[in-house]
Amino acid sequence: MVDSLLKEYQAKLDARLDILLSENGQLYDEIISACRYATLNGGKRIRPVLLLEFYKLCGKDDDCAYNFACALEMIHSYSLVHDDMPCMDNDDMRRGKPSCHKAYGESTALLCGDALLTEAFSVASKTLGVEPERVVKALAHLAASAGVGGMIGGQVIDMSDVKGADDDVLFEMYRLKTGALLKTACAIGCILAGADDELVSIAEKFGEKVGIAFQIIDDILDSVSDSKTLGKPVGSDEKNNKDTIAVRLGVEYCRELAKKYTDEAYECLEHFDGNKENLKGIAAYLLERNY
Ligand code: IPE
Ligand code: IPE
Ligand code: MG
Ligand code: MG
Ligand code: MG
Repeated sequence: MVDSLLKEYQAKLDARLDILLSENGQLYDEIISACRYATLNGGKRIRPVLLLEFYKLCGKDDDCAYNFACALEMIHSYSLVHDDMPCMDNDDMRRGKPSCHKAYGESTALLCGDALLTEAFSVASKTLGVEPERVVKALAHLAASAGVGGMIGGQVIDMSDVKGADDDVLFEMYRLKTGALLKTACAIGCILAGADDELVSIAEKFGEKVGIAFQIIDDILDSVSDSKTLGKPVGSDEKNNKDTIAVRLGVEYCRELAKKYTDEAYECLEHFDGNKENLKGIAAYLLERNY
């Protein structure tokens, strides 16, 4: 059931992203081509799907949130382009293809990330059919989550040497580098649908917990999967001498831990009146995923 739900969303999101990132046959084709390469390449689209599912859970059954959902995926895709660059994780494969800097060169990859981040805010600001005050509130949430107090802050911790640091520092890194974008996905869905602040903060909690579980599983897959299944190199963390919770506490314990965070996320859903089955299914899928 979740598989077909995700496929349906993926097709709709890809179609919208295809239009939003269309080539104009002019001066900037190379950078637009790199943006398309980095975005229209088979990502799981978990963040936009969470945004759209929370929008629905809060009672909205229209397509108005799609631009915002695509904007979030553009920010996530930019983060992957930069994350793979030689100055960061130095990984040559992403989503089953050569990483952006391998295909386009480093300067174009750098600019592609900058372009996706900037264009994302332009796309999100064109969320039509939703009250402008909600769109502005959602834009502020997105900016805060993608920035220094969110995803970037987590990447800064990731690039620092956390060896010997408390486990708490690693969890803080997970909460920020991965949790922040998942959390904002859930919150923005609620904000655009006009939910009150209490529900928005419960959705944030759900997103953060799913986000921490997501990164725990990502670290496990980095050590136990194969690159064909994963679509990105395995052993990247070890190659970069990265300390992860999976390395520290062992794979089995970490699977339990990811399950514990997911169970806590399920509890958050109880505060919503609508049908939560899709969101429960997605959280369960993220726990069991193999890529
Ligand atoms: C990978 O995210 C980066 C992390 C935050 C762990 P995803 O696993 O969602 O990557 P795609 O979008 O499906 O490629
Ligand atoms: C998540 O961490 C990175 C981002 C926030 C972009 P990783 O570096 O572990 O992600 P992967 O494994 O390269 O996808
Ligand atoms: Mg990284
Ligand atoms: Mg990486
Ligand atoms: Mg990883």
